[in-house]
Amino acid sequence: MAEKSFKYVILGGGVAAGYAAREFAKQGVQPGELAIISKEAKKQNSPSNNFSVQFSIILFSCSAVFIGTPSSGCSLFLILSKLTSTVIVASSSGIYITSLIIAAIVVAPYERPALSKAYLFPEGAARLPGFHVCVGSGGERLLPEWYKEKGIELILSAEIVKANLPANTLVSATGETFKYQILIIATGSTVIKLSDFGVQGADAKNIFYLREIDDADKLVEAIKAKKNGKAVIVGGGYIGLELGAALKINNLDVSMVYPEPWCMPRLFTSGIAAFYEGYYANKGIKIIKGTVAVGFTSNSNGEVKEVQLKDGRVLEADIVVVGVGGRPLTALFKGQVEEEKGGIKTDAFFKTSVPTVYAVGDVATFPLKLYNELRRVEHVDHARKSAEQAVKAIKGLEKGQSVDEYDYLPYFYSRSFDLAWQFYGDNVGDTVLFGDNNPQSPKPKFGSYWIKDGKVVGAFLEGGSAEENQAIAKVAKLQPKAENLDALTKEGLAFACKI
Ligand code: FDA
Ligand code: NAD
Repeated sequence: MAEKSFKYVILGGGVAAGYAAREFAKQGVQPGELAIISKEAKKQNSPSNNFSVQFSIILFSCSAVFIGTPSSGCSLFLILSKLTSTVIVASSSGIYITSLIIAAIVVAPYERPALSKAYLFPEGAARLPGFHVCVGSGGERLLPEWYKEKGIELILSAEIVKANLPANTLVSATGETFKYQILIIATGSTVIKLSDFGVQGADAKNIFYLREIDDADKLVEAIKAKKNGKAVIVGGGYIGLELGAALKINNLDVSMVYPEPWCMPRLFTSGIAAFYEGYYANKGIKIIKGTVAVGFTSNSNGEVKEVQLKDGRVLEADIVVVGVGGRPLTALFKGQVEEEKGGIKTDAFFKTSVPTVYAVGDVATFPLKLYNELRRVEHVDHARKSAEQAVKAIKGLEKGQSVDEYDYLPYFYSRSFDLAWQFYGDNVGDTVLFGDNNPQSPKPKFGSYWIKDGKVVGAFLEGGSAEENQAIAKVAKLQPKAENLDALTKEGLAFACKI
């Protein structure tokens, strides 16, 4: 089997991979030195897809001209063209011209957050190449051609199934071997499945998870097929809240089910959650808390029909979306590299216990300097910044230049319906809630501070302007004193804006 050799290999073709590639290009990389290996596939674009999208992404297509009648057999002329294939069928009853597009979309690194938001819009939906990295952070959009121009090899539809770190070797599912001098692990996370806990019937058709673009495409097809149908969302975390809104916007009748007393308990206080639950209820979403899905029944086509809950209730469903958490993809490296808190342990430059191997994004457990603690972060801002830091460190070592330690301020955000929140810092200690958190308000704006040892260490804001969001970020970074919680509640956002 073929063997390929590179100076640098990035394993994974997601957010971190794209930002790492841009940083390599900034720092200087020779053609042929860098490869990105990703299992995300080169996709066949179907004829039903929107033409303007196809126009911009077509890499290969062909024109075919059929002449003759179906009964007498066809003579076929194949003409390669850049844009479309046209099939002309001349039969006894006339001439038919049809357009058949056979195109491959190159799934170069893209901004994954789009998949649970604009990708699912019923109108004006985001499609590649619109959201390739680095548009999510206001940067240049790196189209597949960009990688070509820079001599960066994009090896797609290639799942690595074996890693031999002592031998600097990766092996793909098709048996191809890749050698590297430096490896950056950017494999991200995978979804936790209900079948992992043995939930009965969880493999029925129209039960969806969302991680990659293929998952999103399947969901989009189902939304079209089950127009005005019933959807059940299992899980009340990020996926649950964003998908609940997306399916409602698509006019499905949505119910959400989760085990905790309120949504997003990993971050939200009960006060924050009450606003979103109220807002979602006003949109007509039914929220069922304190129970879980224990089984699914399906119809004679194998399509999901009902969701059985632990508390005995049964919900009808044409579509189910499950978001019950993610798991970092580290299995390939088990026993070969130090792990910590479920991720691959790194230093402040994202170097692992194996000196030729770095780990970035969701898989990295890194020193969070601000809190003097090892942490793993499953959010896009850290994926971008950790990737850039690793490449700076790699190139710095080569050039004999020192690089500052990673000094990260945690930043998470989400958007759904007309809502948008941002969070900075750490959600530990006491909390205060301020502002207008009435879900009926025409323009709600409210937030929370987290206070530990008399200092504000975390800040959340719904509906803030760019300046106000910058202000809460500054608070979380500078950790100003706030001993009187009542005064802080009264002052609210003004406290952040004066820092
Ligand atoms: P990422 O998952 O982006 O990429 C991993 C890549 O590795 C994939 O291309 C995968 O196919 C590939 N891969 C894995 N194993 C492989 C193997 N063995 N061989 C080859 N390739 C392999 N965050 C946020 O802050 N705000 C938001 O709004 C959102 N929204 C959001 C929506 C959805 C639907 C998801 C799934 C996630 C988010 N996130 C988010 C989280 C954010 O997207 C996530 O933290 C980053 O994508 C992590 O970047 P990575 O590059 O680490 O992994
Ligand atoms: P999550 O951890 O945010 O939420 C999982 C939810 O499922 C929790 O409420 C949990 O209690 C609930 N749950 C667990 N078991 C359950 C069960 N058996 N039945 C019903 N509910 C159950 O995970 P997620 O929402 O699946 O997101 C997956 C990954 O994608 C995470 O890494 C997340 O950070 C990322 N993501 C982030 C964003 C964002 O930052 N805006 C958006 C989408 C996805």
